[in-house]
Parts: sequence; C-alpha cells; structure tokens
Amino acid sequence: MRNSTPENSTPEDVDTPFARLAYYQFAPAYMAVGENLDHLERVVQRQDADLLVLPELCTSGYLFRDAGELARIAESVPDGETTRRMVGIASENGVSIVAGLAERGSDGRLFNSAILVSPRGFLGVYRKVHLFDREKELFEPGDSGFPVFDIPVGAGHTARVGIMICFDWQFPEAARTLALRGAEVIAHPSNLILDKCPRTMPVRAQENGVFTVTANRTGSERAGEVLVTFTGSSLICDPAGQVRIGAPDRGEEWGAVTVDLGEAHSKMVTPSNHLLYDRRPDLYDR
Ligand code: ACM
Repeated sequence: MRNSTPENSTPEDVDTPFARLAYYQFAPAYMAVGENLDHLERVVQRQDADLLVLPELCTSGYLFRDAGELARIAESVPDGETTRRMVGIASENGVSIVAGLAERGSDGRLFNSAILVSPRGFLGVYRKVHLFDREKELFEPGDSGFPVFDIPVGAGHTARVGIMICFDWQFPEAARTLALRGAEVIAHPSNLILDKCPRTMPVRAQENGVFTVTANRTGSERAGEVLVTFTGSSLICDPAGQVRIGAPDRGEEWGAVTVDLGEAHSKMVTPSNHLLYDRRPDLYDR
C-alpha cells in the first residue's frame, strides 16, 4: 500500500485519511478476457493508487450478440479468472480495485457485476440494479442491494467504498442509498454511450457529500447493424461537486487524485442543514 499523504500536507495532517483515487479508461478487446487482464496487469504496475476503478464489463467487452455469447464468457465470482487475477494484481501492487465483469451466479443466472478486491483479497460483488436498454434481454437485474466495503488506504486508515454501475447514475436512489450506508467514495464502472452522465456525476457527489470515481470505456463495438460508441470522459468528483480530474472522450487514460476523505464526513450545507438527516422520507413515496 502506498503512502497516500499529498505533497502539501503538514505533520499535523498525518492522521487525516488521505486516499489516492484513480480511474483507468481504455477500450477492452471484445471477448478476450486473458488479453484484457494481461493489459491491465501491465498498466497497474506502472501506477500508484489506493483505489483503482475500471470500466463496466472491462474484461469481456459490452455488445454481446446473444445470450449464448454472454453465457460463454460469464465467470463465477470469486473463483473465475477475472477475480482470481484481480486479487493477484491487487496484492502485488498494494491497490484495491473495482472491476466490472459478466458474472455467472451459482444458479446459472447472469449478472452485470463489479467486484471489489483489496491487497488482502476478495471483498465482495455488486450486481447492477438498473439495467440499460438491451441489457434487460441478457442479464438478470441485480439482487445484491448496494453494499459498502472498507478498503485500506494507508497509515492504518480505511475508506468506505460503495459501488454502482453505469446506468445506475440515472437513479438518484442508488447513490443516495450508498451515502446512507456510509460510503465515502462511490466507485462507478461504466460503459456510457449517452453524454449526460458526466454532467450529472458532480451533482450525485454534491447531493450526497461523497467522492465519485466514474471509469468509462472508449472505442466502438458492432453487432450486426448495431454500432455503439462509448463516450470516455471518465471523471472524479468531490463532495463539493467539483470535478477534480477528467479524461477526454476518447483514448486510453489513467487519471488519479489524492483526496482528503474527511471532506466526505461533514454533510452540513449550512450550520443547520444536514444532507442526510434533513431528508423527509415519510413524504417522498406518496
Ligand atoms: C450502461 O448502463 N452501460 C449505459
């Protein structure tokens, strides 16, 4: 694990929980799990982060021709190739990693999932709740809820990390649920094809007082007549709703920032307004 203290910290800051958050934006090779894992292994070795977020379906690609093709590439978790190799990459490089993959559940159901591994091993899996467009014909809607996990970030500190996948951004309830469960950072693996999400993520971060790390992919995939082009523009937002770093809409890009997780602890908007405690859920579902 790296020393996460930023250059401008003072000795008094040493107890402040800093974390280096990163995304890696790239174009996965379609249906080539081993090739994508080899590539990711090389990339991570050259970099420095406490938490790395990779795109949705980052070892398989996205545009499956049919359910049979998806079933051939889907993997069990945590025994499948992607999870086993990610555990190795995490422990060798002292980094926690959120990575999207096609998951075959123990009962054979297929999920659009993301795993979280830390240098100490496999931590858990999130199964995408809000499926986008044709994903509804291929995947089961997620049944994991919105779990939050603790990862090590240096100097004995931990960060609380929640996961949502791509189109979950469109439903404020996903990020809100993670914030209510104590997430300081929302990891957001994505395969975005619309342009609205990068404009919305600063709002998701601000309205919940959390950091968000959106890792989107680039490149295009074709299945018959259907061509999709992924929109890149990965970004990290802070609890004030500022974009701390962002990627272009195409090309491979590693982006990282060191943040003070303490910024995600105060949820006060004014001295008398709290982002979470001032909610009125008794009135919302009328
Ligand atoms: C998406 O949810 N992959 C757009």
